[in-house]
Amino acid sequence: MDLHLEDKVVLITGGSDGLGAALVRLLRSEGALVAFCGRNEERIAALAADVAGTDGGHGVIGMRADVTQEGELAAFVDAAVQRWGRIDGVVNNAGQSSALPFDQQTEETWDNDLNLKLRAQIKLTRLALPHLRASGGGSILNILAISGKAPGANSSPTSVSRAAGLALSKTLSKELGPDNIRVNSILIGLVESGQWDRRAAATGVAVDDLYKRMGEAGSIPLGRVGYASEFADLAAFMLSDRSAYISGVGINFDGGTSPTS
Ligand SMILES: NC(=O)c1ccc[n+]([C@@H]2O[C@H](COP(=O)([O-])OP(=O)(O)OC[C@H]3O[C@@H](n4cnc5c(N)ncnc54)[C@H](OP(=O)(O)O)[C@@H]3O)[C@@H](O)[C@H]2O)c1
Repeated sequence: MDLHLEDKVVLITGGSDGLGAALVRLLRSEGALVAFCGRNEERIAALAADVAGTDGGHGVIGMRADVTQEGELAAFVDAAVQRWGRIDGVVNNAGQSSALPFDQQTEETWDNDLNLKLRAQIKLTRLALPHLRASGGGSILNILAISGKAPGANSSPTSVSRAAGLALSKTLSKELGPDNIRVNSILIGLVESGQWDRRAAATGVAVDDLYKRMGEAGSIPLGRVGYASEFADLAAFMLSDRSAYISGVGINFDGGTSPTS
């Protein structure tokens, strides 16, 4: 199936590692024009060079931007619009795990999580909206966690930020549908990514053993963690016009883990 993503302009936050990086690679291979951001400049430069392709890097912008800083997000949007003149897709993906027993959380814990996972999605959507409208529509994809639908003990503040992200996606899908802008979310269970690579390194465990253990722990019906490439396949479809009649949904990407659909 041809996704017809050639020359579509897509912005991805947290595109320098893990799931975001897998999506950057896939979209570039499909001919999309991709702007991605993160904070670690080395990782950004390495990925940008890797996906520069044969057009001298015209089709990719890898930029340092902290999504909690509105000015940096604005510069990220401006860079894409200045180079390509339009925006067709936005992937609000930047995040990190943050779950603690409630008694150990402070106001700062909550502020940090809400700023990174919820307010950043709001800010980038606000900044990109006029450009999506000017393009005649587009697709916004909010990357969340399955705990937003099925929170477990000790899963806040993440589960609360993610539940709010789900509500944000739903309400925006209703408001922006008349502008031909679709808003969907993907709720991640356990998927191979940079965050797990780093956790394995920090605990002295081989990353393959960590994934094997996570998959065998009994809580994933399909018996394994997901692959970043499988996430990228789904996200690329949701960004493409092949999913043109899908809006307002929160898709579980969790190997069947969540008790709720
Ligand atoms: N993989 C999973 O099992 C899993 C499970 C549930 C939810 N998720 C969610 O899925 C999304 C992707 O996660 P991942 O597993 O791919 O994580 P990852 O491998 O750690 O990648 C996270 C990306 O976000 C960037 N990032 C983090 N904070 C940022 C900030 N303030 N501003 C800009 N960029 C920032 C990171 O780059 P820098 O550090 O250089 O900024 C990196 O590019 C996240 O929202 C995560 O919470 C993942």
